Amino acid sequence: MTAPQDPDAPEAGVRPGVDEDAVRAALRRVVDPELGADIVDLGMVTGVRVGEAGPDGVPVAVEVALTVAGCPLRAQIRRDVETHVGSLPGVAQVTVTTGVMDANQRRAVMDRARRAAARAAPATAVPDRARVIAVASGKGGVGKSSVTVNLAVALADRGLTVGLLDADIWGFSVPRLLGMQGGVEARDKKMVPLERSVGTGLLRVLSMGFLSDEDHAIMWRGLVLNRAVQQFLEDVHWGDLDYLLIDMPPGTGDIQMGLARMLPRTEVLVVTTPQLAAQKVAARAADMAGKGHLRLIGVVENMSDFTCEHGTSYSLFGSGGGRRLAREVGVPLLGQVPLHPSMAVAGDAGAPVALDDGGPLAPVFAALAEEVATSAAPVVALDGCSARLLDRVAAAVAAGDVPVTPAG
Ligand SMILES: Nc1ncnc2c1ncn2[C@@H]1O[C@H](COP(=O)(O)OP(=O)(O)OP(=O)(O)O)[C@@H](O)[C@H]1O
Ligand SMILES: [Mg+2]
Repeated sequence: MTAPQDPDAPEAGVRPGVDEDAVRAALRRVVDPELGADIVDLGMVTGVRVGEAGPDGVPVAVEVALTVAGCPLRAQIRRDVETHVGSLPGVAQVTVTTGVMDANQRRAVMDRARRAAARAAPATAVPDRARVIAVASGKGGVGKSSVTVNLAVALADRGLTVGLLDADIWGFSVPRLLGMQGGVEARDKKMVPLERSVGTGLLRVLSMGFLSDEDHAIMWRGLVLNRAVQQFLEDVHWGDLDYLLIDMPPGTGDIQMGLARMLPRTEVLVVTTPQLAAQKVAARAADMAGKGHLRLIGVVENMSDFTCEHGTSYSLFGSGGGRRLAREVGVPLLGQVPLHPSMAVAGDAGAPVALDDGGPLAPVFAALAEEVATSAAPVVALDGCSARLLDRVAAAVAAGDVPVTPAG
């Protein structure tokens, strides 16, 4: 039997209640707002020291490793640490020092952040084994929908089952590009995507454009727009899928953020044109992906050099934008789709160029599908602090490395 302890008896320099565990428990209340998890779970706390008790209590020193040196959240994290640790009874003073992670530590933190987001994500009807790829751009009209549809078709043509979600609620174009129409049926109060066989593979397609008449669509727009993507992910019989490709609306709004929350494993493919102001697109894409800590897997340059029937190439929209953007953001350039009239013609006819055997663009999309399908696990984890990407882009612009053209 041990003698009852006197709660007021000083204990080897540490007051009762204030030990390292108590400090760490307090630090769990400090959340990195960009990564959406607490700094202990994220592994950002690199040291906790509880000092000798003085007349006012104990001094506590906390070391926090930030993802990047110029992290704009530095002051906030420091303040939150001081507040939460400082409010522990018996703490006299809190000293916070910040350091910066190296690349490996940063990668580990991003992995933890992704796992935390995955734990917090609501259940969706998208099977766990499906690879989810959102096709995005900072600007409209660069060919996102054309690339998404043809990539989906080219993947299906490899014998895979590919879901295709048209997340462009306002400006859906997938039904036209695939020549598909008709009402979506409901089974057990869930929508059933429209199906189309492609070679030995299968496409399962869902778009606002299938949700019957204009009145219906208008009602959707007004009432449940902000929940549309959620419903497209939750209330749909997607069945077993190898891939889910998502044609994103232009810009970086609620739909993008909703997707990041619902499906944090989403990988992002950025479409650009050769002339587009790289810094603008990169900044937007980085911002979007960074806030949701989604992974950028690569860049596709669309509307690249046009080659005429005599074999002469013309850089109608300039050149090098895709490569430059890929370099700035630190991801591979996965493909270059030439400007070709067949793309527009095929789009209007609802017959994707990826299926036009003998046509000039079918091998381009087959190669892109190969790149996407065989690219190893996503290569670049965004650094959490989107500021880092913005810094890189700003530095490139300052160095005159990136041509600044109006991006409209
Ligand atoms: N490689 C190409 N060659 C020729 N025309 C193309 C090519 N890529 C796309 N287009 C044409 O450019 C137009 C815009 O393409 P698309 O609708 O795919 O872009 P988007 O980025 O999805 O646009 P939005 O931002 O409006 O959703 C279409 O008319 C399409 O046919
Ligand atoms: Mg589009």
